[in-house]
Amino acid sequence: MLFPEYRPRRARKSGPMRRMVRETRLSPNDFILPLFAVSGKGVREPIASLPGHFHLSADNAVKLAVEAKNAGIPAVLLFGVPDKKDPLGTSAYDKNGVVQKAAAAIKEKLGEDLLVITDVCLCQYTDHGHCGILDKGQVDNDSTLDLLGRTAVSHAGAGADIVAPSDMMDGRVAEIREALDEEGHQDVAIMAYSAKYCSAFYGPFRAAAHSAPRFGDRRTYQMDPANAREAVREMSMDAEEGADILMVKPALSYLDVISRARDEFDLPIAAYSVSGEYAMVKAAEQMGWMDGERAMLEILLSIKRAGADMIITYAALELANKLE
Ligand code: PBG
Repeated sequence: MLFPEYRPRRARKSGPMRRMVRETRLSPNDFILPLFAVSGKGVREPIASLPGHFHLSADNAVKLAVEAKNAGIPAVLLFGVPDKKDPLGTSAYDKNGVVQKAAAAIKEKLGEDLLVITDVCLCQYTDHGHCGILDKGQVDNDSTLDLLGRTAVSHAGAGADIVAPSDMMDGRVAEIREALDEEGHQDVAIMAYSAKYCSAFYGPFRAAAHSAPRFGDRRTYQMDPANAREAVREMSMDAEEGADILMVKPALSYLDVISRARDEFDLPIAAYSVSGEYAMVKAAEQMGWMDGERAMLEILLSIKRAGADMIITYAALELANKLE
């Protein structure tokens, strides 16, 4: 097929033609909306680094969850911003913790109509801000696992449908699966942050969740952005340990990793379009340098085209009603 007999422009001739031959489509079904839960009542504090997002008490988290459900979004992802932090992150596995309360309130209102996914990690809950507990100034893998298991069980007890460990400790998926099953939560799924990179793109989230490490960085547990083969290894381990969904995070700078994940595994693949991806579009839009909505849709489309089955995005709600 060569020019002039073949003319690729014929397939781009009109709107209906382009719609008909389109290979990838975004739908609200693809989206997962992150929400930030705090204590109290009637709280809805704007988050400066994430325009359009708020710190929400459980009652207001329910309102946004209802909006998400009405927009056709199947799931929310809950993060907690607790009142108290300590070295062991105890409020992460407190049954009256902020995530536990928000999860219970959302499930009470919406039941089966919306999935509640909970972030399982200690970094918002530890006073040092690391994702695991410390031993002589180092993040200690094995003693962290027990606390992650307890956190997951307490989320499941509050009604979470899916728990999402984001700490990058070795062996946490097996530990969490075992802990859930022991407590009778066989039906709670695990969405594993399997290939989570040590990324500058988490900046706005850490400002929102007050979870920046107080010293050092996360390089000893999150992955080196240079490595893709290692991501396949991490995902294989999580699949073996019982993960139901594998995640790549961030998304935009890791489309190759998403594409490899799609090729190598038959599990559902999630991609997390992180805070920095959202914030840079919002910032450029505010400067008048870019059409933010078009740019965001193009980014999300590229993530789906790369092979993601679901996308966690801060733009979920604002874009859900804009899709054809
Ligand atoms: C916590 C966690 C982080 C994100 C989700 N869970 C931040 C981090 O690793 O510091 C980032 C999400 C985002 O940037 O949108 N482990």
